[in-house]
Amino acid sequence: MLPGPSIGGMALSTETIRWGVAATGGIAVRFMEGMQLVDDGVVAAVGSRTLDRAVAFADRFGIPGRHGSLDELAADPDLDVVYVASPHSAHEADTVRFLEAGKHVLCEKPLALNAGQAQRMADTARANGMFLMEAIWSRFLPAYQRLGELLAAGRIGTPLMVEASFGFTRPVTPEHRLFDLALGGGSLLDLGIYPVQLCSLVFGAPDRVAAVGHLGSTGVDERVAAVLHHRAGGLGIVQTAITAPLACEARISGSEGWVRLPAFMHCPQQLLVGGQRGDEVVDAPFEGDGIRFQVHEVHRCLREGLGESPVVPLAETVEMARTLDEVRRQIGLRYPGEQAGDVTPDPAG
Ligand SMILES: NC(=O)c1ccc[n+]([C@@H]2O[C@H](COP(=O)([O-])OP(=O)(O)OC[C@H]3O[C@@H](n4cnc5c(N)ncnc54)[C@H](OP(=O)(O)O)[C@@H]3O)[C@@H](O)[C@H]2O)c1
Repeated sequence: MLPGPSIGGMALSTETIRWGVAATGGIAVRFMEGMQLVDDGVVAAVGSRTLDRAVAFADRFGIPGRHGSLDELAADPDLDVVYVASPHSAHEADTVRFLEAGKHVLCEKPLALNAGQAQRMADTARANGMFLMEAIWSRFLPAYQRLGELLAAGRIGTPLMVEASFGFTRPVTPEHRLFDLALGGGSLLDLGIYPVQLCSLVFGAPDRVAAVGHLGSTGVDERVAAVLHHRAGGLGIVQTAITAPLACEARISGSEGWVRLPAFMHCPQQLLVGGQRGDEVVDAPFEGDGIRFQVHEVHRCLREGLGESPVVPLAETVEMARTLDEVRRQIGLRYPGEQAGDVTPDPAG
């Protein structure tokens, strides 16, 4: 594994890394459950927009620090790193606030609404000598580790196509963040990012994108299909939806074989491999919530003084945001308040 750029200060040497959790919604609860299985880190404080919610969350999980604003959480001197678990639309402001307050950050996916925001967040982390990573937790799961090894060993020859889908059916509820344009709703940024990150893992950034999508009554993308073309010829076929139950599987086809990631492709516990060298099932089980594996990576990076993870480097995060920008441009999806220069411009001018 290549070392990432280092952070300005000394590597963290404390035995227990102290986390803050910013926001108290669904994924913050899962993060807490995952943290039960991490023995060299502790959640020392939680921050919410209201003290009531912070106290309720803290009481539920036995967290000593509770703050009724994220500014207070940022000022807490007893924290090393903050997990940002707010809606996408708040990620830039929240992350920048913590980085500038001298806290390292693990921020939920997508890191930002668009590439301009993602680039500013990466720049802020570097300028302040702080660690920042987008929480692409799939990359740290045993199955994705095995996948990386298989591809590096040439088990399927040269990868040529990736087919990946992730989507489910949710009743259209305008008040839910998935259907709320102002919160960065829609399928692409929430779920489509998993197929896109798989294509990025296999091929790198695309040089051409062709996308179509359906925007629903609340203005968000409810269904999207995109083809990502890569300079060396690799094609990624990506489907995502919040109003259709997709297969949620992925298949990577190469010159000498294939690898299948069964549902759910973002957190499989098995890989199915086939081709010229025979068929095989690669088991990659794990216990509990796999969200914790990325925490081990954050701890490793902080202890080694790395400013970013080589497994989800910031440059790749910005590239993936560019890809998502281009898909959104083609399907006509723009979030309110987005600065024109933040979204990757139309390549045709
Ligand atoms: N890694 C994964 O598998 C996974 C799964 C689900 C979600 N996510 C990501 O995690 C993020 C949060 O998703 P979630 O499902 O946890 O959302 P959620 O249940 O709606 O919770 C989001 C929380 O953010 C806070 N918040 C801040 N500004 C808000 C606003 N304007 N409106 C509503 N809430 C606001 C609220 O906490 P307070 O009231 O305490 O401030 C709220 O409870 C998203 O970026 C999503 O993509 C990741």
